[in-house]
Amino acid sequence: MTAAATPRTLACILLAAGRGTRMKSKLPKVLHPVAGRPMIAHVVAAAQAAGAAPITVVIGPDPDQATVAQAVAPHRTAVQAEQRGTGDAVLAARDALAGFTGDILIGYGDAPLVTEETFATLIERARADDRPVVTVLGTRPALPGTYGRMVTGPDGGLDAIVEAKDATPEQLAIPLCNAGLMVVAAEHLWSLLDAVGTDNAQGEVYLTDIVAIARARGLRCAVVERPEQETLGVNSRAELAVAEAALQDRLRVRAMAEGVTLIDPKTVFLSADTRFGRDVVIEPHVVIRPGVSIGDEVTVLAFCHLEGAVVGDGSRVGPFARLRPGTVLGARVHVGNYVEVKAATLADGVKANHLSYLGDAEIGAGSNIGAGTITCNYDGFSKSRTVIGSDAFIGSNTALVAPVTVADGATIGAGSVITRDVEAHALALTRAEQRALPGMAAKIRAAKAKARKG
Ligand code: UD1
Ligand code: CA
Repeated sequence: MTAAATPRTLACILLAAGRGTRMKSKLPKVLHPVAGRPMIAHVVAAAQAAGAAPITVVIGPDPDQATVAQAVAPHRTAVQAEQRGTGDAVLAARDALAGFTGDILIGYGDAPLVTEETFATLIERARADDRPVVTVLGTRPALPGTYGRMVTGPDGGLDAIVEAKDATPEQLAIPLCNAGLMVVAAEHLWSLLDAVGTDNAQGEVYLTDIVAIARARGLRCAVVERPEQETLGVNSRAELAVAEAALQDRLRVRAMAEGVTLIDPKTVFLSADTRFGRDVVIEPHVVIRPGVSIGDEVTVLAFCHLEGAVVGDGSRVGPFARLRPGTVLGARVHVGNYVEVKAATLADGVKANHLSYLGDAEIGAGSNIGAGTITCNYDGFSKSRTVIGSDAFIGSNTALVAPVTVADGATIGAGSVITRDVEAHALALTRAEQRALPGMAAKIRAAKAKARKG
């Protein structure tokens, strides 16, 4: 590129209208989650990070496709009326891109492992001095299967892409495959697509045919390679599991690079949006669902399940704890074994170490929640809140029947059922008085023994 030239702009079209029949699912294929995020959202995020704008997602006409549109909003969608093939799908975005003159990045919504670097490699090759009109990302999969095969010329340029179903045995033996991403100069794209026919094994309009058409017009096409890892297409549940495993590995490596100790990485499951501070230790068998943010010097002990939760610096969670959405733990909070927290804020230094349910609650700094405490937040009709002040002490096996407030510094005697507000620094308890009958146990024992002998 000469110094005077203005940089070319980059628009993106992502294809997501296919029915995904091999998934055998009610859910549109591209909405199946990988690492807790729909496949299409991974691709959109990578395209956006690579600088593509606008991004247009091509969806199908069925009513359930509205959910795909919601998942990619605020990016726009274009509807492909009938699934006539990948080339026809790109044509569905033509009106949305009327007048656009830069480069058009075309990707498939079912390839969730693409990264910003995947796109960057492709874009860099497309913009090299020889300026190919079509630049396609290639890969060498261990099992080439149904991938399109890339036919290259003696100069290494790309001459054609042949779909597996249309390939000769010689072509099927080609190891270089179409990964499913390309960059095409906008000024050529639409006229190339207009020339694509349906004379092939599937009777479809193949996007991949534009390569041979461009070559016939004397235009240059190029291929650039990335590892199969980044380009895996998901067409079945088995491939979904492969994609999940690959992304989990990537997330674990990233977490460790950021200063997180994973004692047995393979047993820790993360989400694409999981955030960690420094010096976090995650013990084995922990599942972190979407929406979790973990502060510095936090330890998550074995067998915990976290979702939609914020864990403050220096806190300790588990073993066997469950943090559900809306949980906010302050600094140095302890949540121990068999404790479930939901929509609750536990301020700095709160301890809830054993066997409790804390839902729809607010607990002030330094309070101690005894074993077996239950916030009774649901009366069968509606949910109510429990508010506990700071430095309160809730005795073991207490039921707090919400709505109820226990003010600062109050103590609740063990085994109480608290239905009315408790004022600051008061002791509240609802137990029946204890009675003792001296010698009675021994008398009963003697009577039983006599009856057995006689
Ligand atoms: C496609 C490529 C193949 C490549 C492979 C990479 C073509 C003709 N073939 O094959 O060369 O190796 O991807 O994974 O392009 N879609 C639509 N509308 C349609 C058809 C498909 O939007 O009418 C979308 C699908 O939702 C999917 C993507 O396009 O996201 C790819 O379609 P798919 O049927 O999976 O193509 P492959 O057979 O995998
Ligand atoms: Ca595919």
